[in-house]
Amino acid sequence: MNPIAIVSAMHDELSKVLELMPDEQKQIRAGREFWLGHLHNQAVVVVLSGIGKVAAATTATLLIEHFGVDRILFTGVAGALGQDVKIGDMVIADSFLHHDLDASPLFPRYEIPGYGTSTLKADENLTHQLVQACNYVLTHLPSDMDAGVIETFSLQSPQLHQGLVVSGDCFVSSARASQQLQTELPLALAVEMEGAAFAQVCHDYGIPFAAVRTMSDKADDEATLDFTRFLAEVASHFSMRVVDRWLFSLNTAP
Ligand code: ADE
Repeated sequence: MNPIAIVSAMHDELSKVLELMPDEQKQIRAGREFWLGHLHNQAVVVVLSGIGKVAAATTATLLIEHFGVDRILFTGVAGALGQDVKIGDMVIADSFLHHDLDASPLFPRYEIPGYGTSTLKADENLTHQLVQACNYVLTHLPSDMDAGVIETFSLQSPQLHQGLVVSGDCFVSSARASQQLQTELPLALAVEMEGAAFAQVCHDYGIPFAAVRTMSDKADDEATLDFTRFLAEVASHFSMRVVDRWLFSLNTAP
């Protein structure tokens, strides 16, 4: 059986997933630590992609070429776009777009040269499984989560959204930049720095890819406020629970 890849950009997004693995073994490739082991009887490779699209593309290629993974799940944080998406909500990507790609006038803005499209689709089956896992997690919110944390981040009733996730090599941290993105890409629900790169590499290799992001900020002037705390105290719990539930459901599926 080929292993499944579980990926995040930053350590705090993945630390609790690693804690779940009883038998992990480390392999270093291209300066990255790949953790090989098992979760719910599934062979997994857990890795930090690093931040940004180039780091993501290198990691995705290594996972496929060297570790032979047969699907990739990305879990992490993102900036929320639009009125309806709040901090603490989860966004599952149904498609990805490089918001900083512009080869005009040779190609329409955002179009990936040679692909004839600007959007890359998430794998339907994997995404469906992810929706079920996230719904479960959101309806069974962590009982071990500090009441102060729930209060600080207004996590009383986080919602699940599904739609377009946009990626670029910049941390969006001003109301102006966020507003511009929303005007130019009104369908975008979340902004991050790796998803579209993973989706493109996975598209090239024909490997199923899905991603879920917990909203850590509104991609505005307050985006960096409490970011580290959110990662450690909220995102890490959410990631671990989603991965745990998803792999559990694969294991128990008929
Ligand atoms: N990841 C989390 N928040 C983000 C933001 N505001 N911009 C880009 N990537 C992010």
